[in-house]
Formats: sequence, C-alpha cells, structure tokens
Amino acid sequence: MPSAHYRPLLEKRLQTEFNDDDEDGDDEDAEEYEYIGTSSSTSTSNNNNCQQQQQQQGPQQQHFHNHLQPQFNKPKICYDYYETSAKGTPVLKSTANAMVRHGRYKRLLVVLLLALPLLCFAYYLLYPDTRLGANDAEREFDPHVGTDSSGARVLNETLNICSESDEDRRLYIQDKQIDAYVQLPVIYFVTPTYPRREQIPELTRLAYTLMHVARLHWIVANDHDTCTQYLIELLLRFGIPYTHLASPMPSKFRNNKPAPRGVANRRAALQWLRQRNITNGILYFGDDDNTYDLKLFSEIRETQRVSMFPVGLIADYAVSGPVVCKGKVVAFLDSWVADRRWPVDMAGFAVNLAYMAQYPNANMPYKPGYEEDLFLRSIGLRMDQIEPRGSNCTEILVWHTQTKNKKAPTVRFSREYLDERSNLGALFEVLQRMGVAHTSENEGVKAQLSKNGKVKPHSYFLS
Ligand code: UGA
Ligand code: MN
Repeated sequence: MPSAHYRPLLEKRLQTEFNDDDEDGDDEDAEEYEYIGTSSSTSTSNNNNCQQQQQQQGPQQQHFHNHLQPQFNKPKICYDYYETSAKGTPVLKSTANAMVRHGRYKRLLVVLLLALPLLCFAYYLLYPDTRLGANDAEREFDPHVGTDSSGARVLNETLNICSESDEDRRLYIQDKQIDAYVQLPVIYFVTPTYPRREQIPELTRLAYTLMHVARLHWIVANDHDTCTQYLIELLLRFGIPYTHLASPMPSKFRNNKPAPRGVANRRAALQWLRQRNITNGILYFGDDDNTYDLKLFSEIRETQRVSMFPVGLIADYAVSGPVVCKGKVVAFLDSWVADRRWPVDMAGFAVNLAYMAQYPNANMPYKPGYEEDLFLRSIGLRMDQIEPRGSNCTEILVWHTQTKNKKAPTVRFSREYLDERSNLGALFEVLQRMGVAHTSENEGVKAQLSKNGKVKPHSYFLS
C-alpha cells in the first residue's frame, strides 16, 4: 500500500493516464478531434481507412495543431496510422498508443481506484494498532533519513556537541559524600530548551534542583543552530556532569501551529545516547520550566522498564497520570485523550536504557501532541509492564509549571552612558548575552534613572 507521502504522486499519475484515456471527458483534444476506430480494434480495414484518409487529406495535415490551424474542422486522427508510421509527431504517437491501451487500462484503473480505499479500510480495521504507530509518523514527519558512520539510524543530523563533562565536582550531595552514591544507576535527564527571555532563569532554577541529585547526567539540548557561549559558561558552574547540545527544530516545522516543540533537541539527545552506546541507566525527559520534587529522582532510579506517575497542573483536571488498581496501571486520567494509547505528559514517565536498547527504532516523531504516545509505542510498551511510582501514583512529584513568556524589551540608552563609569554597561551586556533585554540609542522604552523618587537625566548621575 502506498504511504501517505507517495499517494498524491500516484494519484496524479493515475489521473493523467485516466484523462489520456477519457474520450468522453472534457479533454480538449477529444472535443476538437474525431477519433477513428476503437481501442480494441487494430484491424487491417481500419488501417486501410486511415491510409486512405491520410492520402486524401494530403501530407501537410500530418502536422496540424488544433489551435494553430483552425481551418481544420475536426481533423480526423487515426491512431493506427500514426502507430505504424515513423512520420507521426511524438505527441500524436503517444496519444495513439494511449488510445490502444485505452479500454484495458481504463477498466483496470477503475477497479484499482475502487479497490484501494476498500483495502485501506480493511487494513485499518485489521491493524488498529498501526493507526498512530511510530513508523507511520516517522514516514510523515521525519525529515532526517539515513544512517550514521556506525550504520545506526540517524535521529538528528544537526547535532552539535557544544560542551560536556563527565566529571562530578560536587563533594557532598544531601549531606552525604559523593562516594556514597557510586552504586546507583545514572539518570540521564534530558532537557530541551530554546533561546528566549526566560531561558537562563529557567535553567538556573532547574540546575539548582539537579545539584541535589546524585548520579545524574544532565543533557541540555538547545533548540538553536549554533552553540551559545553564555550557556557554555553557565553549565560549567554547577559541577554536575553534563552534555550541552545544539540542535535546531527543522525550519520546515518552525512556523507550524502547533509546532513540534522540543522534539529535534530530544531526538538529538537520543542520538547522543545511541552514539555512545549508553545502555545502562534511566532516561527522563525533564522540560526546563517544570518543578521537580527531589523524591522523583529516587523513585525513577528504580525503573526496570518504564515507570509512570502523575504530573500536576496539566490541562483541565490540573493533573494527568495513570489509574492504578491493586498496584497495576489499568487506565489513564487525562483530559485530552485524542486516540492516544499512552495519554501521558512528557514529565510523567521514565525509561530504563537497557530496556530501550531492545528497541533500536526508539524515536520521537515530529507530531505535536503525540510525542509521548508515539515514543512509548516505539519502545513496545505494554500496559502490564508499567511500574506505577509515587505511592501507587497518589503523590505529585513533578509539576507542569509554566513561566509567563514575554518578548525581550529594547531599552533606550545613549551609548555614552553605557561605559565603565557605572555598572550599567556591563549589566546590559550580560542581559543581552542571556537574551533577556537589549539596548538601543534611539529605539525602545527610555531608561529612567531616579534618586529620592525623582527621575533625573542620565547626565545628572553619569557625567
Ligand atoms: C507540554 C509538555 O509538557 C511538553 O513535554 C511537550 O513537549 C509540549 O507540551 C508539546 O508537546 O508541545 P508545554 O509546557 O506546553 O509542554 O511546552 P513548553 O514548555 O513550551 O515546551 C516543552 C519543552 O520544549 C520545554 O523544555 C521548552 O524549553 C522546549 N522547547 C519549546 C523547545 O525546545 N523549542 C521550542 O520552540 C519550544
Ligand atoms: Mn512547559
């Protein structure tokens, strides 16, 4: 069965052939020419008729064109003649050939066109599981095809490793020396992030949570085409092992509404894990704007295959997560079902990497709203394998907090006052580097400087 990607092409071809054969339709040629013979008839008598007619009309009529030579009222075209003559123009010859095939192909095409939707429908009924399967989504949404040098499937071609460190520079974590934790499996905490005014504050807050978590490798995957110097410097400060990637959303998705947010960068993180053949530890997708309870980390570290737990502040019920009966996940509570088999938030599950390694096609497609569902389908998850966490999903250990998003302002300042006479030059330089605020000589909101409740000209303080 043709994939959705190829269907328009196929339909176009069928349409063209169908039109070629459509003598009853609105075809321009069919209106102006009168065809002699039928598609099934190639008899000698027809041939003879044709030859006769050709001789009567004279050789100049072989090259008529219905528009250029309007004096030929309904010229008679004999496909049999043109088929056997080397003098026929290519157009006429192909039309003639099409007419010969006409009857047989027309019937075949009609049967095919009728049968295709029926076959698709039957397939849909027989294999409901594939309706939103990761493979379907892959074909439709994956702009990256191919393999890397090791022969592994490429998840993201635009993966830049900006900076990384395996070293854990923390001496104590939660009052214990760092050595006390060496036996624990590593949590690979994947944070997609993107440049905007709130990026650095979000990452700073998250970093100070993660600093309390032992045996954690933070993969910060920035939705940007180049490495950001400010991020390179920031991530060094926390002493946590980390990898800083830059991997932009493909431009073809950028203006989509909704856009696949955080997908290219999560895929880059999956690619990084695969390239390093990391098959030990726990994978968790932790967005930069959520709020994480430290208990979450000790819960997910126990994951054998896939853990799940409720996420607070999601959609209409202010919560999304599994329904648990007698210690087993039996259903899901989420206000947006939308045919998702796993209607969970990205922050609501964790995966053991040894389990994921059994599924080399594990992937997250560019399908907004279905990233979690299709990712979990791509690792062959079954309901009876899910491990409910947080006291059988009665605790909220992660919150889907959202930061108010605003455009970075432009603040008007005369450049002469942004020098070393005050802190202002350095301050606005760093705000600019963080993407928080910009300055301009003649645009934006004027910067007010005040003393004792009174606004004074910049020159008053800085000259
Ligand atoms: C919800 C879910 O909690 C996300 O896990 C899911 O990716 C997202 O919906 C979605 O499917 O669109 P929500 O708070 O609505 O999250 O989205 P954001 O927080 O704006 O974005 C999710 C993550 O992607 C964040 O870490 C954000 O920094 C990152 N992101 C967002 C990008 O990397 N690029 C973008 O253009 C936008
Ligand atoms: Mn969010």
